[in-house]
Amino acid sequence: MSLSPALGQPWPHESARAQVCGAAPYVDDLPETKGTLYAAPIVSPCAHGLLRGIDAAPALALAGVHGVVLAGDLPGDLWLPTPARDEPIFAHERVQYLGQVLGLVVADSPALARRAARAVQADIAPLPAILTLEQALQSQSYVLPPVTLRRGDAAAALAVAPRRLRGRFEVGGQEHFYLEGQVAYALPLEQGQWLVHSSTQHPAEVQHWVAHALGLAQHAVRVECRRMGGGFGGKETQAGQIAVWAALAAHKFGRPVKLRLARREDFLITGKRHPFAYEYEVGFDDTGRIQGLRLQMAANCGFSADLSGPVADRAVFHCDNAYYLGDVEITSLRCKTHTQSHTAFRGFGGPQGMLAIEAILGDIARALGRDALDVRLRNLYDPDPTAGRHTTPYQMAVEDNILPQLLSQLELSAQYRRRQEAIFGWNRTQPVLRRGLALTPVKFGISFTATQFNQAGALVHVYTDGSVQVNHGGTEMGQGLHTKVAQIVADELGVPLGRVQVTASDTAKVPNASATAASSGTDLNGRAAQDAARQVRTRLAALVAQLDGCSPAQVRFADGQVHSPTHQRSFAALVQLAYAQRVQLWSDGFYRTPKIHYDKHTLTGRPFYYFAYGAACTEVAIDTLTGESRVLRVDILHDVGRSINPAIDRGQIEGGFVQGMGWLTTEQLVWNDAGALSTCAPSTYKIPTAGDMPVQFHVDLWPEPNREDNVGGSKAVGEPPFMLALSVYEALRNAIAAAPGAAGEQSTVGAAAKPFAAQPLRLDAPATPEQILRALGALAAD
Ligand code: MTE
Ligand code: HPA
Ligand code: MOS
Repeated sequence: MSLSPALGQPWPHESARAQVCGAAPYVDDLPETKGTLYAAPIVSPCAHGLLRGIDAAPALALAGVHGVVLAGDLPGDLWLPTPARDEPIFAHERVQYLGQVLGLVVADSPALARRAARAVQADIAPLPAILTLEQALQSQSYVLPPVTLRRGDAAAALAVAPRRLRGRFEVGGQEHFYLEGQVAYALPLEQGQWLVHSSTQHPAEVQHWVAHALGLAQHAVRVECRRMGGGFGGKETQAGQIAVWAALAAHKFGRPVKLRLARREDFLITGKRHPFAYEYEVGFDDTGRIQGLRLQMAANCGFSADLSGPVADRAVFHCDNAYYLGDVEITSLRCKTHTQSHTAFRGFGGPQGMLAIEAILGDIARALGRDALDVRLRNLYDPDPTAGRHTTPYQMAVEDNILPQLLSQLELSAQYRRRQEAIFGWNRTQPVLRRGLALTPVKFGISFTATQFNQAGALVHVYTDGSVQVNHGGTEMGQGLHTKVAQIVADELGVPLGRVQVTASDTAKVPNASATAASSGTDLNGRAAQDAARQVRTRLAALVAQLDGCSPAQVRFADGQVHSPTHQRSFAALVQLAYAQRVQLWSDGFYRTPKIHYDKHTLTGRPFYYFAYGAACTEVAIDTLTGESRVLRVDILHDVGRSINPAIDRGQIEGGFVQGMGWLTTEQLVWNDAGALSTCAPSTYKIPTAGDMPVQFHVDLWPEPNREDNVGGSKAVGEPPFMLALSVYEALRNAIAAAPGAAGEQSTVGAAAKPFAAQPLRLDAPATPEQILRALGALAAD
């Protein structure tokens, strides 16, 4: 591996400077074409009901209102072209959640459009609504059929296990809270052609949906996205609706139309992370090793399927996390409720799956009075294939398992054992406060579970002055994808990073691109761009070989220079020679992930190219009188392979961890009895702020490259660190278990512990002060 100045260095994000001085435009900042109108959504005030009519007259009476767009105005299909075909473009006949879009008002200004939209009256005859997971489970209300993954015989293993526990608990959803809300700007061009600026992780799908809604072929619609102000999964599919609505309004009025959701509208209309409810029964031995597990995971999918199938599948694929489950039965229920359609969110069901097993292992440790890290280590996948404990329930061998070494390194560097003892001692001296410590691993599968999405394309253009432009199918949402792809291309051509520019994602450049999702942006697009750059370099090397009478293999590209055994030329000078010789100076590139396959009927195969690993050790403190909590110290050791950009990777690790911490501690979504989301603003919905950052926050990168052949030896980093925050939840439960008067209060590490409660300690997440007090109250009542 060359020590390239482009790869492996902590380069700043390609837009960092422009972003901090306000010079990096987002969709709403683009110059507007003359005649632009503004749309605002008309939303259902009712969770479930028959839609008998819409009276737009009060809106139309306002000066400056151009009109409304309703289902009756649609030129093509009334439905979005999703696989389940269960989402109307605008609600018609019935409404299925409070906030569902019935139509749009189009006006001269966004404020007027919004005001007019509120004046529209919908006549709805209410029907009984299913609003909670519990109600959905009772009435077997599903968006997709249940799925069960079995290996061995869970019932038999449970029957003979020396010890058993049963438990149930829940985790809430999560609002994406991207800083830039959903937005699209649709411009009718000449001869039935369209340009749509969309803040989207998936321009190709926006193109497909807009073309479908307008009754056009896909080639008539071009979608562009230079950057998003955050996506986090919320713009994987659900940017599509916004773009379709803007385009339909533009179609009806023959003018450019912009639609930007206000924060409150975004909360009300768009889906969130799937809330989950769990029920489990686990059998284990006296060392804490799991012998049999039966787990049911019910996902609240909202009113339509959206991405719920693959999200729930990923939860099934990650409820083993890092642990061997021999005899296991996992049931996944995809529940339908009359709420927003829940969607992709960083981790894509992985966090919900992994929370299940981490909570179960914590319960086992407390039931046995054993140290939870010891119980976790006892259950790890064994890297030795002959030990027979290294295949997942979906039959994939865990070949690259570095967790035994990674966990013992973090155990030492975080001084886990010493601090655990110190915390036991400290807790005994405190009347009110309790501390808790937990160290949890992450194993996250990298690839889209739907094999076909694991492909990417790119274009590399070299201009006659030697400057380079690269365009690829991925999108930039702050994660640094464009920076990494530019680094990869600069490395391949041996030019300084400043010679390479990445341009806006554009369906007219690279077609049929997958969503930038599943953390695979750099793996896929980086490799496609590398392929394109390599083709240009190969042609240039052939020219040098011909000019200098050497072999192409003797030509080296480095530091903006091209070296042959006899000559040295600047890259720009060589490019000019090549142009004069009519050598093609640009190329396309393509990549498809090798080795992966997966049978969706049996739920088995190798859905992931490799796993990303990590671990976090978190110390928290709680106040047992108020239920308040604080994260005091976090030590992370995370595996990004050979980092392409350690500054960006650290940002992803810190940001992912803190976002996961928010999901598990403060970000509570509350729907009232009528199905109205009552936490629609930062005043009521609490994401972490700078003040919530752990007081001590150490992040180290694992030093080994990826064992699979991945771009630059790196590993994907976008989602895996989110799940490091499971250590926060487990540390909180340990602190609660040590509360004054609790059975576990006097516990010390080892077998001499006092007998423990027969019931697992239930803490529903997010672990708000109310939930922590509830858990403490249940312990005291035991
Ligand atoms: N980082 C920032 N700053 N903003 C985002 O929206 N999205 C996350 C992650 N990191 C996100 C982010 C999610 S959900 C994914 S899947 C990956 O980035 C997508 O980008 P990548 O595949 O290039 O890592
Ligand atoms: N991860 C993220 N997004 C996706 C996936 C996945 O596995 N499949 C489809 N969209
Ligand atoms: Mo990320 S949830 O795969 O967009």
